[in-house]
Parts: sequence; structure tokens; C-alpha cells
Amino acid sequence: MRLQGKNAIITGAGGDLGRGTALRLAEEGARVLVNDIKLERAEETVALVEKAGGEALANAADITSAEAVGEMVDQVMESWGRVDILVNNAGDIRDSLIAKMSEEAWDWVLDLNLKGSFLCTRAVAPHMIEQSGGRIVNLSSLAYKGNIGQANYVSAKSGIVGLTQASGLEFARYGISVNCVAPGLIDTPKAQTLDDATRERLVRMTPMRRMGEIVDIANAILFFVSDEAKYVTRQVIHVSGGMEGF
Ligand SMILES: NC(=O)c1ccc[n+]([C@@H]2O[C@H](COP(=O)([O-])OP(=O)(O)OC[C@H]3O[C@@H](n4cnc5c(N)ncnc54)[C@H](O)[C@@H]3O)[C@@H](O)[C@H]2O)c1
Repeated sequence: MRLQGKNAIITGAGGDLGRGTALRLAEEGARVLVNDIKLERAEETVALVEKAGGEALANAADITSAEAVGEMVDQVMESWGRVDILVNNAGDIRDSLIAKMSEEAWDWVLDLNLKGSFLCTRAVAPHMIEQSGGRIVNLSSLAYKGNIGQANYVSAKSGIVGLTQASGLEFARYGISVNCVAPGLIDTPKAQTLDDATRERLVRMTPMRRMGEIVDIANAILFFVSDEAKYVTRQVIHVSGGMEGF
């Protein structure tokens, strides 16, 4: 129970990696505010955490809205009195080659992946500064190194690395760490929808020659928010079976 007494916010935790992370952190004793714009998904995660003996609350804030994010943080403060951990996990893609990419697809991906992480970081910052401590983990992707057809996502996920560097530097003096997890190919239901040829090609590009598991990502996040990482900040860890991207 490495996180006994800690309160965590995980965005997009009705999705695959966020749900796995909520369950893993709760297993270590953390109370979890499960955010997802799709309330029913957040509620499903809450039910799973509770079934495993943990404590969780659902929240349906759209993380691209500063007002909704403010209310989400208020919900944690009013319910549990402090916020120790923020996992900026919500994210998604809208792929296309640059020549065909709409402005709307660019803005949507940048807003969700990058601006949403900034807004959540900004909203927890005053509380963590006042508490003189906190842990923030941002989800990037190995795609931050570059990928064809993903200029918006690549830019957002490199931006996440920049946000980690900048906020980690700014917050270090307050005992707040900011780190980043960049997953490679992970075996989620979404990965199962890839056609066989694409999946096989991606597996061949992975030195370990297999996909990672959701728990591999959850464990990397757990490390960053646990006491074992108390002197670690501004780091990006690739959880990718050795794949280093382009
Ligand atoms: N799954 C992978 O293999 C993989 C690889 C690299 C990086 N990542 C990153 O990890 C993170 C999680 O990925 P995932 O595969 O679990 O995704 P997912 O699509 O399963 O889950 C994301 C969740 O975020 C929610 N969401 C979308 N917009 C939102 C908003 N505006 N406000 C709040 N919630 C919102 C969705 O409803 C969804 O439940 C993402 O940032 C993704 O880019 C995933």
C-alpha cells in the first residue's frame, strides 16, 4: 500500500490506460477521482475500483474547458481535502497527412492532448504549492519522435514533453515532481482493431517483438508517484519494449 492516504486525479480514466492506472493506484491505497468526458465510462471504472476494495469518484469534466477542470479540482478538494497526484492521461488521435489535415483536426488534437494537460496542471498547482508537495505524470507517446500522418498528435505529444520540462522546473522548489510516460505499442482493445499486417509490422519494429500490457504503463506511472521516485523529476520514460521511434 505505497499510496495509502493519497488522493489522485486521473483524466480519461474511463479509457484503457487510464482505467488500468486507476485500478493500479487504488490497489496501492490511493483514492481516485476518475475523470472521463463519457460519464458512463468513468462510472464503470469507479465500480471496478470499488469492487476491488478501493475508493473512487466519477467526474465528467471536459478537460479542454478551464471552467470544468476547475470544478473537477474543487470536487476533489471538497470531498477529500487535498490533491496529491495528477495523471494527465486523456488523449486521442485524428490522423491525416499534413496536406489533407483540417484545421479542426489540428486544433482538436492539440486542445485535448496538450491544452487539457496544461489546464489540469494549472488547476492543481496552487493546491500542490500550498501543500509543498505533489506528483504530476503526463502521458506522451513514442510518436513524439515523429510519425507519418500524425503531425497534430506528434506535435501535441512533443509538447507534453516540453510541458513536463517546463512545469517540472517551475515546481521543483515546491516538492512537486513532473514526469512523463511515453508508451509504445500497447495491447489494448484499440490495438486489436488494427489490421493484422499493421500490427505485425509494429511488433516487428519493437525489439522485444511483442506488445506491452496496460499494467506496464500503470506500473511506470506508479513508480513516478511513489516514494521510490522522490528525487526524480522532469524525466521521460519510454515503456516501449525497446522501440525508440523514428
Ligand atoms: N494505448 C496506447 O497504445 C497508447 C500509446 C501511446 C500513447 N497513449 C496515450 O495514453 C493515453 C491514454 O490512451 P488510451 O489508449 O487509454 O486511450 P482511450 O481512448 O482508451 O482513453 C482516453 C479516454 O479519454 C476520454 N476523453 C476524450 N476526450 C476527453 C476530454 N475532453 N475530457 C476528458 N476525457 C476525455 C475518452 O472518453 C476516453 O475514455 C492517451 O494520452 C494516449 O495518447 C496510448
